[in-house]
Amino acid sequence: MPETANLQLGEKKFDLPVVVGSENEHAIDISKLRDQTGYITLDEGYGNTGSCQSSITFIDGDRGILRYRGVPIEDLAEQSSFIETAHLLIWGQLPSSEQLDSFSRHLTHHQFLREQLRQHFEVFPPGSPPMAVLSAVLNSLACFYPELLDTEDEELFEEAAARLISKVRTIAAYSYKHDMGHYLVYPHPEKDFCENFLHMMFSEPYRDYEPDPALVRALDVLLLLHADHEQNCSTSTVRMVGSSGANLFASVAAGVSALWGRLHGGANVAVVSMLESILEQGISVKDYVQQVKDKEAGIRLMGFGHRVYRNFDPRAKIIKKQAEAVLAKIQRDDPLLGLAEELEGAALADDYFKERSLYPNVDFYSGVILRALGIPTSMFTVMFAMGRMPGWIAQWYEDRFVTRGRIHRPRQVYTGPTEVCYVPLSHR
Ligand code: CMC
Repeated sequence: MPETANLQLGEKKFDLPVVVGSENEHAIDISKLRDQTGYITLDEGYGNTGSCQSSITFIDGDRGILRYRGVPIEDLAEQSSFIETAHLLIWGQLPSSEQLDSFSRHLTHHQFLREQLRQHFEVFPPGSPPMAVLSAVLNSLACFYPELLDTEDEELFEEAAARLISKVRTIAAYSYKHDMGHYLVYPHPEKDFCENFLHMMFSEPYRDYEPDPALVRALDVLLLLHADHEQNCSTSTVRMVGSSGANLFASVAAGVSALWGRLHGGANVAVVSMLESILEQGISVKDYVQQVKDKEAGIRLMGFGHRVYRNFDPRAKIIKKQAEAVLAKIQRDDPLLGLAEELEGAALADDYFKERSLYPNVDFYSGVILRALGIPTSMFTVMFAMGRMPGWIAQWYEDRFVTRGRIHRPRQVYTGPTEVCYVPLSHR
């Protein structure tokens, strides 16, 4: 492979360096292009733009590969836990048992919210979107921990990271309880990460919720599968906000906002709404697939397609198996699972989907597991955010302190009017 790429603009030729990643991915370094040629590149939606060099997560979309710090997602889903995976993502290695104990103790220590912060929930009206509450409360953590805002101190970063991973779970559960008009359940120091979350969601003043261990494990795997996904919309947002020097709390709060949209994290809600409405309206799978292909109809098969995966999404395979196992365990037949499987089969056999390399993504089956756990649809994207927190933190840290990137500032090709004279109000 050449070490430089050659660009010819009119009579002039330019050499551009080629950067090669550890998995043999090739990129043309255009960082000096404008200085050398006066040109910029244009790539709306950034489909061909590498915004950074990163050593956290590797995806090969053609071969359906996803690895965190080199470890295949299948191995993590089989043998690891969400907390161990969070450590792997943020600190670059699987923890020793002492490190894991210490990290877990740290998380337990930080699981409570300050009482003033707990009272914040009262100001949100009933029915407030939980993603709005989550983003607002995460941002407001900056008011409670000013000592953690502008620091390059490794220990303080660890402290902020542990607080976020632990508290996002408490905030998520509180936003649900508040929305339901129920009293808020404090976290329990003796319960592990996922069990504790389910406790805060479902325990009553007179009865502790005792979840089946298989359900707790399913939640753990679900969070782990969402823990990072390289430079997606919300992660790029976190890195961009952090690149201005903004603190970690503000940066991840912005990530939550980016995740909210239905083309990103909000897709898991859209999938369940789609499946429910197909069932309610009695539309056949064949007709629905037909509607989706009709561009005039303006609807998409939610939970299908991915900017990067062009073969299959490895997370979707794992989640589908988990969904089946969870439903078998609780001995429940969810008609949505059957419908999702039928839709998947019909779409995968259809030329429209084949030609565009559209496969089920992580969101296609995750809603089925969340429903089985009793999580309401309004909380689905919040669950995604809980899972993604370690990835956001790892990516923020890398941008800020490892690669020490410049402030992220794309350029544009201006297409508006050329210079126009100002017309005073009296003459308009
Ligand atoms: N249903 C029907 N057609 C689709 C779909 C779909 N789900 N996804 C893409 N297409 C078509 C699209 O209309 C276009 O067709 P044409 O070439 O004829 O114009 C072609 O496939 C390429 O689509 P695109 O919009 O250029 O692809 P993209 O890479 O910009 O978008 C996507 C990726 C995930 C936003 C898109 O596939 C989509 O909207 N999927 C449904 C929403 C969804 O499930 N999102 C969750 C993504 S995974 C979780 C996450 O990381 O956030």
